[in-house]
Amino acid sequence: MTVAKHIKTKISGSSWIRKMFEEGALLKAEHGVDNVFDFSLGNPNLEPPEKFRKVLNDTVISLAGGDHRYMSNIGYPHVRRSVAEYLRKEQRVEVTENEVIMTCGAAGALNVILKAILDPGDEVIAPAPYFVEYQFYADNHGGILKTVATKPDFSLDIDGISAAITEKTKAVLINSPNNPTGQVYSEESLKELGALLTDKGKRLNRTLYLISDEPYRKIVYEECTVPSIFDTYKESIIATSYSKDISIPGERIGYLAVHPEASFKEELIGGMSLANRILGFVNAPALMQRVVAPLQGVSVDISAYARKRELLCNGLKDCGYDFIKPPGAFYLFPKTPVPDDVKFVKELQKELILTVPGSGFGGPGHFRIAYCVEDKTIINALPGFRRAMEKFR
Ligand SMILES: Cc1ncc(COP(=O)(O)O)c(C=O)c1O
Repeated sequence: MTVAKHIKTKISGSSWIRKMFEEGALLKAEHGVDNVFDFSLGNPNLEPPEKFRKVLNDTVISLAGGDHRYMSNIGYPHVRRSVAEYLRKEQRVEVTENEVIMTCGAAGALNVILKAILDPGDEVIAPAPYFVEYQFYADNHGGILKTVATKPDFSLDIDGISAAITEKTKAVLINSPNNPTGQVYSEESLKELGALLTDKGKRLNRTLYLISDEPYRKIVYEECTVPSIFDTYKESIIATSYSKDISIPGERIGYLAVHPEASFKEELIGGMSLANRILGFVNAPALMQRVVAPLQGVSVDISAYARKRELLCNGLKDCGYDFIKPPGAFYLFPKTPVPDDVKFVKELQKELILTVPGSGFGGPGHFRIAYCVEDKTIINALPGFRRAMEKFR
């Protein structure tokens, strides 16, 4: 035995996404990359905006001396100032650089937050379906992820969350726009959630954090906007990144921001700064910090994702699939025509279509399609989607 037992268990129970990725690689080797329709990963296919390339080039050219040294664990002050300035507009709350920590993506931000707030056995509540990695992130820091089903339209079930809160609860972790459903939580439901956490926190004499994981905030369609989280609850922390909105997930750059009126703000920031260091991130990548500073509010062309969403939704509707048209992100989470979602995903695989069973996200009876792919992948996959559906009619 070379790896720890708990890691071995985790590898074998590891995500469906990874499993599909591996099976997909075999199918691609057998049938050729262009003949396999891979909707398994949320890896944005759009290139970063032109402005990103320009700033990247300019930044590299203007590097002077001492630009590659260690820095403060929380990141460069001028970068955190740019982020705070943007957040003041986005969140409509007076955020300053003192409340911002640059991180290695949203994943880094979430791990830093959980490391700083969890005692062993503390519970983190997440609405399901949820991003699979949350299980690992909570477990990394001695916590336990407790999931609460959302309503049939994937909106928040506030009563369900209320019933799940105990004296062990430390945080509620939400993700809107959501992976895997694409749902965006309404302002009304977030206000209700904020009121619930305020009330429960008082009763339990415990600070209950609301962690908002929002790397898809800018990827929304039609008239949809994502409500400010800081507007709804003061014990809140935002975790986000530039991975999806400017298509640079490989660069590992994001940030976390604490509500300026959070009760134990200094202690929290101090704990998270230490967590960034001792988790081994030390600080977010220096070059990318400099590059994103002037790119606040910039995003890829969202209309390209809107077009893909239309192509997919219209095509699947025509084949008889049942789904909620998602207001955000680049995922569709249709119902499977049979309760066994793994069986249906395997049926799609026979058509060389790679998707992920909903069970992997705590949403059985569904499957996830990541449509951040080329238009032709969607168009050419539709006959296979139709044939798979017809087998169960
Ligand atoms: C909901 C959600 N949170 C966090 C992450 C991690 O993002 P990052 O690449 O910025 O670490 C992802 C990536 O797919 C995600 O879907």
